[in-house]
Amino acid sequence: MKINGTPTRTIWLASDGWGVEIIDQTRLPHELVTVTLRSLADAATAIKDMWVRGAPLIGATAAYGMALAARVDASDAGLAEAYRVLHATRPTAINLKWALDEMMAVAREIVPTDRAAAFYAKAFAVCDEDVAINSAIGDNGHAIIATIAAAKPGQTVNVLTHCNAGWLATVDWGTAIAPIYKAFDAGIPIHVWVDETRPRNQGASLTARELNWHGVPHTVIADNSGGHLMQHGMVDLCIVGTDRVAGNGDVCNKIGTYLKALAAKDNGVPFYVALPSPTIDWTVADGVKEIPIEERDPREQSHIGGKTADGTVIEVQVIPDGSKAANWGFDVTPARLVTGLITERGVCPASPEGLRGLFPERC
Ligand code: MRU
Repeated sequence: MKINGTPTRTIWLASDGWGVEIIDQTRLPHELVTVTLRSLADAATAIKDMWVRGAPLIGATAAYGMALAARVDASDAGLAEAYRVLHATRPTAINLKWALDEMMAVAREIVPTDRAAAFYAKAFAVCDEDVAINSAIGDNGHAIIATIAAAKPGQTVNVLTHCNAGWLATVDWGTAIAPIYKAFDAGIPIHVWVDETRPRNQGASLTARELNWHGVPHTVIADNSGGHLMQHGMVDLCIVGTDRVAGNGDVCNKIGTYLKALAAKDNGVPFYVALPSPTIDWTVADGVKEIPIEERDPREQSHIGGKTADGTVIEVQVIPDGSKAANWGFDVTPARLVTGLITERGVCPASPEGLRGLFPERC
């Protein structure tokens, strides 16, 4: 997508041909800062400390992390250690493991001296594939939005989204936001309710930032507002992203997604989940019971960052001294609450049959 008119991805090769450049998302929305990753440790820190985040971008960064590791030690033992280090960074987004497995499959076919170059090529291909997949998700989701728009001619389509599943969470386009970009670019009058997404505020700081860059009308709302808006006919559909979809169609996504799905069900609002196929974990039969939920630093709950009137970016404490805070990063929305899964191959019911219908090679 574009920043001030310049097409930009979230991850790209540095001009030296081997460093890996990223946008430090911890500095958004107030500062646009890029960082060059030059080692396995840099890549692991970037994922763990959420300089990059969002399941598809985590996968892409891990792929490049393996390439950076292979420059130094491409032996079987060296790559096994790189795999271990990167895999340990964040537990919930399955794209991380998917990308690492893709790299190891490449390594198995070639001798160590050829692995670094092959890994760079593969990481580049992983990124390109992500862009193509997300563009297709955008087209498939655009069709849903277009149908809703056709039923209310001349009126704005209101979409509610949670967390950040836009281009900043991927290499480009985004997952949940890709249909919104496609619909907006096609001239459909559209407005996005952006859940702020406490505790880290990915909605307020990232989704709002990128919608703002692209010019898509949007309003940031407190996480607790969605039920009220849906009750009063102010939401036509919800589209969220996901960090892992189980084989039964259960959807793991940023904490708070489940509550939005419940409110949507109660109010007859369609609730769609947009996902690239690497986000499907075919090994998990029951998402609610089996998907590991990341518990993050309670400081993300007890403190909040922002910009003061003089432009200084600061962090302040929002709970009393001595109170405890807890911080679960994700929740799982049962498949029964999901209207449909928007994938690169089309839209399907959130069920084992629905998923296998689109991905028969997994049967
Ligand atoms: O903890 P994060 O910021 O990495 O969370 C991931 C997300 O951005 C969301 O859960 C998103 O909706 C799914 S990733 C496209």
